[in-house]
Amino acid sequence: MIVKVLGSSAGGGFPQWNCNAALSRLAWDRDDRVAARTQSSIAVSAEGDGWIVINASPDIRQQIAAAPELQPRRGGPARNSPIEAVILTNGDVDHVAGLLSLRERQPFRLYATARILSILEQNSIFDVLAADVVERIAVDFDEPAAPLEVSGLDVEAFPVSGKVPLYLEDQNAGAAPGTQIGDTIGLKITSTGSGTLFYIPGCAFIGGDLLGRLHRADCLLFDGTVFTDTEMIELGVGQKTGRRMGHVPISGEGGSLHAFGESAITRKVYIHINTTNPILKSGSEPEQAVEAAGWEIAFDGMTIEL
Ligand code: MLT
Ligand code: MN
Repeated sequence: MIVKVLGSSAGGGFPQWNCNAALSRLAWDRDDRVAARTQSSIAVSAEGDGWIVINASPDIRQQIAAAPELQPRRGGPARNSPIEAVILTNGDVDHVAGLLSLRERQPFRLYATARILSILEQNSIFDVLAADVVERIAVDFDEPAAPLEVSGLDVEAFPVSGKVPLYLEDQNAGAAPGTQIGDTIGLKITSTGSGTLFYIPGCAFIGGDLLGRLHRADCLLFDGTVFTDTEMIELGVGQKTGRRMGHVPISGEGGSLHAFGESAITRKVYIHINTTNPILKSGSEPEQAVEAAGWEIAFDGMTIEL
């Protein structure tokens, strides 16, 4: 199984278009200690022929341009794409807006929970993906979920603690802005003879059930949005904590560094990294701390073979 990181940053990319905080400034200034990143997405393939894209980021056109594996096959029909399916793990803008770039009547299958599919249905702009060309398939995440066979890969969905998309938050609902089960899922992906990949770009809380599920995984790509729960507030670029945005921080009590400290996962990789997260700066203390704890930091174009 081949995993290609198309985009390793959180919503808005790194740097975000209007962000002038210190890290983003380094990125604008093309400082060698930081590498710009596009928005959260990976592609997975059993053998390199057909690919599934997990989350369709607003940067998908740029991501395809940077990935020959995802480009039309030389000698193929006038319109062709090795992208056979797209799976969504939530309905956030950084994960669905790229669907609008996948038009031109190219057949593929679109998988998401019934709740996320209903959001797409209610926004008629997504009808650019004509129903007779792009089949929409509801993903079951009940326990035990029936694994889906997608392009030679076995895909199993499971609910994780998350959040309703920002644009659907109920402003009157206080701390619980209308989030329901099925708003955010994680994926377990395997194929014959390969290791097991878990992809969880958004997760608000790490409980015992999740730790048990991941315990002996070969590879985990996990929510690395913020290093500190309050970093966006402290930098003056936002009013919300990481947890309030649906993202457990890396550091601190209940953070992912501590929570996965005892796990036997072979490769642990942070992905969906926000423009404020200090692990983005090579040589920084937070970067060294996560690497010392056995974590890798995803970058655009990173390839993992399992
Ligand atoms: C998130 O991951 O929290 C979202 O991408 C935030 C957003 O909608 O920009
Ligand atoms: Mn996001």
